[in-house]
This record gives sequence, C-alpha cells and structure tokens, in this order.
Amino acid sequence: MANSLQHIAIIMDGNGRWAKKRLMPRTVGHVKGAANVRQMVKACADEGVSYLTLFAFSSENWRRPPEEISALMGLFLQYLESEVAEMKAAGIRLRVIGDRSAFAPLLQSRIDQAEQETAHNSRLHLTIAANYGGQWDVLNAMRSWQAANPGKQLQDLDAGGLAAHLSTADLPDPELLIRTGGESRISNFLLWQTAYTELYFTDAFWPDFDAAALKQAIHWFEQRVRRFGRTDEQVSANPAAAPGEQLSTAPLVPPAFKIS
Ligand code: IPE
Ligand code: IPE
Ligand code: MG
Repeated sequence: MANSLQHIAIIMDGNGRWAKKRLMPRTVGHVKGAANVRQMVKACADEGVSYLTLFAFSSENWRRPPEEISALMGLFLQYLESEVAEMKAAGIRLRVIGDRSAFAPLLQSRIDQAEQETAHNSRLHLTIAANYGGQWDVLNAMRSWQAANPGKQLQDLDAGGLAAHLSTADLPDPELLIRTGGESRISNFLLWQTAYTELYFTDAFWPDFDAAALKQAIHWFEQRVRRFGRTDEQVSANPAAAPGEQLSTAPLVPPAFKIS
C-alpha cells in the first residue's frame, strides 16, 4: 500500500548559490526563488497534496545583510499582492506562521488581508513560514497552553496539549520534508512536527526545483517503509495501523515491561 501523502514541507534553500553560479547578485536568486513558489504550489495541487508548508524566512535570517533582508521583505509583499487573486480563484488557502509582529505594518496588513480573503478555500492549504523558528513555536505553544490553563501545572501538559497550541495546530504533521540546496539540516524549521517525517535532501537549488523534481521526491517517499517504532513484520501485517499513533499521548511502555 502506498504511503499516504497529505502534507509536504519544503526548506527552499539555495537561491543565493543559484545566483552566484551565474555571477549574479543573490537577490536575483531570490526573485527566481519567489517565482518558483507559484510553480510548486501548482505542482503540489496537481499531485493531490492538500497541505504545503514553505520555509521562506527563518528567525535566524535577520542576521543577513540589511539590503538582502529588505529585498526578501519586498518580494514577500510583492508575492502577496500579485498572487492572492489567483489563489482565491484556484481554491488555495494561505496562512502565514511565525512572529509577524517584527514585519513592517504594511506587510502585516497584507498578510492579514491575504489570510482573510482565502480563508474559505480548502483545495490546497498553503502555509508560509516567515520569521519562523521551530524553537520559538514550541516555547510559544507552552506559554500559550499555560495562559489557556491557568490552574494547571506543567506535569498536566502532554504531547497533544502542546501540539494544539503550536502555530500548525490545525495542520496534520508533514509526512515529507524536502530541503533543496544540498544541506542536510533542519535549520530550526518544524522541529516538533517532523518527529516522524521522511526527510529528503536534494542538491538542486530552489530556483531549479521543478515539477519533475517534486515527482522524484514523492516517488522516493513512496518507497519508504514508515515503521513508527514497529518492526517490518508488524508493518507488513497491518500497514494501515502505524500512522496516527505517532503522537500517542498514552504511555507506550506497558507496565509489565518496565525494568525497575
Ligand atoms: C534560501 O536561499 C532563501 C532564504 C533563506 C530566504 P538562500 O538565500 O539561503 O541561498 P543560499 O543558501 O545562500 O544559496
Ligand atoms: C533555511 O535556510 C531557511 C530558509 C530556507 C528560509 P538558511 O540558508 O537560512 O539555512 P542555514 O543558515 O544554511 O542553516
Ligand atoms: Mg541558504
């Protein structure tokens, strides 16, 4: 049975090196990269994927030169202004996760507007992670849980309780994470949500990652045996059982097996 694939997350890396290879400024790579987002959203919709989450700007990317940050912010604004009408027509729901309070008021208002205007769509849930950090998300979730449960202690918090306060609370965990640009690291992206995600690293720079490359990644994903802690024999006897149990909040060690 093929692995089910609802949610793909992508770390869109390699724009700068794509441009450098062509002796062009890094910002040209970002322009190309932004244009590729449109193509990838369409490709994912064509593949029947329901959720696509894109890492556009990390909480650490503020360390970049100010001119590059301005160019990235400008591209984000331009993207929102040029794409929302098409998203509305194509049934795409856009959401932005991350600490948006650091953005210019105009960008914040365009984000709010784009979210509102596409809120009723459900064909593809596109989530853009901007000023996002996985550590920020987990800490924020703990604080938000505490604020929502004033009488409770930290011992009362379980995995499901925390997940319900993450910025991705109403998204399923990604089954597949793709990182372009040749690095094999998470760079503070979805730390909690990728506990059992299949990780696909490709040398292709983001502007070159096209629909055919996406198909290859999906094909690779389909070959994976997703065990969720079980043995191969258990998985082949009951292939449908494993997913969904990954965030089990019940203790997985039966009392009789405890060593002490
Ligand atoms: C990814 O490409 C885009 C952002 C982080 C905003 P990079 O800009 O990191 O490109 P490289 O890694 O320097 O090639
Ligand atoms: C990760 O890429 C962040 C995004 C793609 C938005 P980086 O280029 O910032 O990652 P590092 O610094 O190489 O780990
Ligand atoms: Mg990079």
